Amino acid sequence: MKELIDRLAVNHSLTREELHRLLEQPEASLREYAALRAREQTLRCFGKRIYIRGLIEFTNVCKNDCYYCGLRRSNSLCRRYRLTETDILACCEQGYRLGFRTFVLQGGEDGGFSDATLCRLVETIKSRFPDCAVTLSVGERSRAVYQSFFDAGADRYLLRHETADSEHYSRLHPEPLSAKERKRCLYDLKEIGFQVGSGFLVGSPYQTIDHLCSDILFLQEFKPQMIGIGPFIPHRDTPFGSFPPGDLELTFFLVSLLRLAHPNALIPATTAVGSLAENGRECAILAGANVVMPNLSPPVHRGDYALYNNKLSDGAEAAESRALLDARLAAIGYEVVVDRGDYIER
Ligand code: 5AD
Repeated sequence: MKELIDRLAVNHSLTREELHRLLEQPEASLREYAALRAREQTLRCFGKRIYIRGLIEFTNVCKNDCYYCGLRRSNSLCRRYRLTETDILACCEQGYRLGFRTFVLQGGEDGGFSDATLCRLVETIKSRFPDCAVTLSVGERSRAVYQSFFDAGADRYLLRHETADSEHYSRLHPEPLSAKERKRCLYDLKEIGFQVGSGFLVGSPYQTIDHLCSDILFLQEFKPQMIGIGPFIPHRDTPFGSFPPGDLELTFFLVSLLRLAHPNALIPATTAVGSLAENGRECAILAGANVVMPNLSPPVHRGDYALYNNKLSDGAEAAESRALLDARLAAIGYEVVVDRGDYIER
């Protein structure tokens, strides 16, 4: 099995059968070996430097009804909010002072923000913070709208494919959402010129090992610049409220495999891994991740951006606690850098 890991480290790809063998029942020793090789790979590409992104969750209003997500339209218990342009700029201002050079504007698919409003917002942020990158994460749009975001100056776009298998996708998302349309969005974003981030949920309801193989194979083909994965975590006010959370060890193993398949990709230690375990973020970094995305949203609203229950937003997850984050990463031998942290073709 170690030989498969070695092969992945050299060729950066495996077949479905090979992935199956790795994921069937990975023993601790195999997972450790993968983490070691992945860490070597990260070290070669990035050194012990961790990039940070300030996450601004600017609206939790969403027209979609994804069965797993606490922000789904049908969740009437969710207290909805929208930040104003002034609020958002204040977040950027504070983030800039804290050393952030990438702002991620993430929100539900909220018709309350028109495409033109979002373009204006991007233009304003880019003109006030010309040395910063702007990442958008606002879901599915037409190609023309993506182009207008890009023309407004947005540098990057995050849109997880969630699951690459269309049937499984339909069990997680009601119509009209489809895996096909999601992939269309991803290819359009890439062709337009965005640095694109994709990724999937680990341990979402009904997921099989074969689905995970499809996820890895899809990413091998799509070659995103950024890859974010995290365990599914139930939210009590959703139809998936009583499903168990995804497995953390499996998530770390997948981070390692993805690092080996995508040597220079930007891979975050996601909030979900930090939410399931106190040292989750550190474990993800030691498994091959090289990005963290602290929360830069106004503290009063953080609790309302509840994708799942017990979502972490304090401690080192809070942007204002940069010093704490620095100390925690220093404890495992890594340092946070003040840098846009763009994807670099090698
Ligand atoms: N558990 C884990 N991750 C979730 N997301 C949404 N709901 C959940 C959940 N219950 C993730 C999705 C989405 C990202 C913003 O948050 O993968 O792409």
